[in-house]
Amino acid sequence: MNTVYVDASMSDDDRRRKLFGGQIFLFTPRASTNALCDHTAEVVESAFPGMDPRYAQFDMPVERYVDIVAPLKPRFIHNATTQRLLRDVIEDLGCDLATTYQDVPRLRMVTSDAYLTSGVGYAHHLHRDTWYSAPMAQLNWWMPVYEIDTECSMAFHPRYWSEGVANGSADFNYYDWNANGRRQAASQVTADTRRQPKPEQPMGTDPQVRFVVPRGGVVLFSGAQMHSTVPNTSGFTRYSIDFRTVNVADLASGAAAPNVDSHCTGTSLRDFRRSSDFAAMPDDLVAKYDSGVHPDHGVTVFSPG
Ligand SMILES: [Fe+2]
Repeated sequence: MNTVYVDASMSDDDRRRKLFGGQIFLFTPRASTNALCDHTAEVVESAFPGMDPRYAQFDMPVERYVDIVAPLKPRFIHNATTQRLLRDVIEDLGCDLATTYQDVPRLRMVTSDAYLTSGVGYAHHLHRDTWYSAPMAQLNWWMPVYEIDTECSMAFHPRYWSEGVANGSADFNYYDWNANGRRQAASQVTADTRRQPKPEQPMGTDPQVRFVVPRGGVVLFSGAQMHSTVPNTSGFTRYSIDFRTVNVADLASGAAAPNVDSHCTGTSLRDFRRSSDFAAMPDDLVAKYDSGVHPDHGVTVFSPG
C-alpha cells in the first residue's frame, strides 16, 4: 500500500524510512521552493525573449527549439544561485545539511503534442532511477516551474513498488553512460537511439497516480519508484526541475528501498556533494556501492563538454 503525505511535519529520519517503504510526500509551495522556482523561470525566460516559454514550441521549428534549450540545461545546472537555492529548499524541508548530499538539479522541458520527445526533451518511459545506477537509498525531488495539469504531469505505477519486472538494467553501466549516452543528448532530435534500461515485458501502466502540485510544490519519492513522463497533451510545454539526495547515514547503515529488479553496475554516488559545504562523497562509502566495475573503463562523473 502506498500512502501520500501532504505537508507532513516529521523528522527527516522518519520521513526517509517511510520513503524507503514506498510512501510519497507532497509539499505545497513555500518561500524556499518559490525562490528556486522564480530563479528557474528567470533562466528559462531569458532564453526566450519576448515569448512565453510554454508556448514557444508553436512558433519555431523543433531544431530551433533544441538550439535554444540545449545550452539552457548546463547553464542552469552550473549556476551558483541554483545550487544555493536548492540547498535552502532541502534545509527548509528538514534535511540535515551535514549528512545530506545533493546532486545537481536537472531542468526538463516536456513539449506538448509530441513536438520533441527525444534527446534534450526525452519523455521517460516507465523506469526506476535505480536501473540507472542510482543508489537504492536515493530520494527524488520534483517540482513544476509553472502550473501544470494532469495531461503534462508525471505518473507513478504503484503496483511495481514490490513487483519486479524484466528489464535491461543489467546492461547499464554508469561510467559508459557518462562517457557516451549523455553527451549525445542534444543530437537526438527526432528519435532517441541511446541505449537505456527499459522494461522487457508488457507493462500495465494502470493503475497509475499523478500528482498535480501547484507551481513551487514538491513531490518527494524514492528513486526505486516506478514512474514515467506522461505524454504531454496539455497544449503547452511543461518545465520542471528535479534533483536527488542521499543521506550518508543510510549509505553507512544500508537503509534503503528494497531492490526488486535493479541489476546495473557502477554508481552515481560520486555526483553527490555534501549540502553544507559541497564536499565530495567519502571514497569508502562510494566503494561500498561500486559493484566491482573499474572506473577506468568510462567516466565516473559526467561534465558537459
Ligand atoms: Fe526518473
